[in-house]
Amino acid sequence: MSDLIIRIGGEGGEGIISAGDMVAEAAARSGLQILTFKTFPAEIRGGYAMYQVRFSKDKIKSEGTGFQVFCAFNKEALDKNRSQLIPGTVLVYDYPDGEIEEEVKIEGVTCYALPMSKIAKKDLDMYRAKNMVALGALSYMFDIAPDDLRELIKEKFGKKGQAVVDTNLKAIDAGTAYMKEHHKKTDPYKMGTGGAVDKNQIIISGNEAVGLGALLAGCNFLSCYPITPATEVAIYLSKALPKVGGVLVQAEDEIASLANVLGASYGGAKAMTSTSGPGLSLMQEMIGLAHMAELPCVIVDVQRGGPSTGLPTKHEQSDLFMAAHGGHGDASRVVLSAENVADAVDLTVLAFNIAEKYQTPVLLLTDGSLGFRTESIKRPDPKKYTIVNRDRFKPGNGNEPYLRYKLTESGVSPMSIPGEPGGAYISTGLEHSQSSSPSFTSEDHVKMSDKRFNKLDSVVDFVPAPEVQGEGQADVGVISWGSTLGVVREAVDMARAEGLKVKALHPKLVWPLQEKQIKAFAATCKKILVPEVNKQGQFAEILRGKTGIDGISYPVYGGMPFTPKQILDKIKEVL
Ligand code: COA
Repeated sequence: MSDLIIRIGGEGGEGIISAGDMVAEAAARSGLQILTFKTFPAEIRGGYAMYQVRFSKDKIKSEGTGFQVFCAFNKEALDKNRSQLIPGTVLVYDYPDGEIEEEVKIEGVTCYALPMSKIAKKDLDMYRAKNMVALGALSYMFDIAPDDLRELIKEKFGKKGQAVVDTNLKAIDAGTAYMKEHHKKTDPYKMGTGGAVDKNQIIISGNEAVGLGALLAGCNFLSCYPITPATEVAIYLSKALPKVGGVLVQAEDEIASLANVLGASYGGAKAMTSTSGPGLSLMQEMIGLAHMAELPCVIVDVQRGGPSTGLPTKHEQSDLFMAAHGGHGDASRVVLSAENVADAVDLTVLAFNIAEKYQTPVLLLTDGSLGFRTESIKRPDPKKYTIVNRDRFKPGNGNEPYLRYKLTESGVSPMSIPGEPGGAYISTGLEHSQSSSPSFTSEDHVKMSDKRFNKLDSVVDFVPAPEVQGEGQADVGVISWGSTLGVVREAVDMARAEGLKVKALHPKLVWPLQEKQIKAFAATCKKILVPEVNKQGQFAEILRGKTGIDGISYPVYGGMPFTPKQILDKIKEVL
């Protein structure tokens, strides 16, 4: 198979994530491209957890549709995935004497029973090793490099002691031996290899990619409050920032986090915070302050299911309205959204560049599925990135007063940092004059409001134009955002392969909009389809409001990303 999806489902706490990580890592060590997807409950133990690995010799655009191989650790996992066990798929399941009490027979589905619980409990005396029994079986049946798996067990469980490592190695052997003895392979699936391993390839998650992008941009300060699914951004930077002389402050809440970031930025640091929806709600007043005081900062929002505490571990793209419009008063900001892991690196650098160039808050939206997923990407080359730093105050001859908010043609005024002779000013959320003194006159409010908004006029040109997929006139044009873009790419490829006249636009700047390019794209399409993972069709509404393009909104909001098939089916329905 040139493109294979293996899914593992079971209970949170049973080691589904560890097993999935190992399959992904083994595939990458075999020279394959990987893209993973995981979803788990908000509880630490219990509830349905799922991990799937898609691997291919070619670049992978999305999580894909369904799976070829499913490994069920218990009945709940089997029930949840039963509708996707379609003819041609394979099931490996915990039977007999396991969590699944009846033999499974499904027309057209190859079912391999494997008593993983029993082997782990009775033969190995370590229930925890159930996942490695399953992995041994998967390795034998689907050709997942056994030597790599053995190495990975030593790497992952080494710190838990030699006895744990040994039992897990035995578990791999036991799973393999059971399959050898009890089943003859009748399905066509094999992982295979992708050729020589590219040394310039790394495997990282979306959250780690944001951290890496921040380092490339020169970020030296992060303050945040832990929140699922964003915490890994801080975990990554907690290890990396001290190595570059940077600082991480875990604050008491999200309000304090952004307040710390603004203080650091005022002091000259390249500063960032990372959060998810509930945290972004709390930050709104501070975003207004960043706008008012013209303080560069980057705010990463790894969106999750909302509102309120909502569905903390589930996927959704429902913070767009808040990102673009949240807070009181007239406050501007820039909002970017990342498509995939490589994009998360690049857009974090871009977010810092915009924040510094325009002295403004920049929000970068990712989401639960992108934050948690790992992908193989080309190792980012620091030389590839242009890094923008803020326009700094230069002392004059001493006779001119420093005007922090001087009205300039670009709207951007040079910024001093505390302690620079001649560069003292008041950084405040109060309206102010050019000199920074508080001022409540109509004249200053109008002039300063215009300055703060107008300086962003050229952001739409600073951000690369959105990519167009497909050429010529189309019957349907798809416009989407965030990680849905990857799914759209795959669906549009499938549609075009079937001869349908379909194209897509892939914007990364979601506020303000690159109206000129969006309108030009829409002019080449008879109908516009706007898929996104939220209830209200938020991007469709923003598009309508800003460009007049009345796209067909296609919202899904079940806590899961789109599949390419869903979008392809919708394209056909629209056609
Ligand atoms: N031998 C020894 N140890 C093993 C093992 C094996 N064969 N397989 C797994 N383990 C260990 C893992 O190393 C891990 O240990 P660690 O905690 O010391 O790292 C532990 O068992 C859990 O296994 P893991 O594979 O990482 O996770 P899981 O698939 O069992 O799922 C989670 C657990 C991740 C779903 C769950 O713990 C979780 O985090 N839920 C989400 C909580 C959350 O974010 N809530 C929202 C709050 S708002």
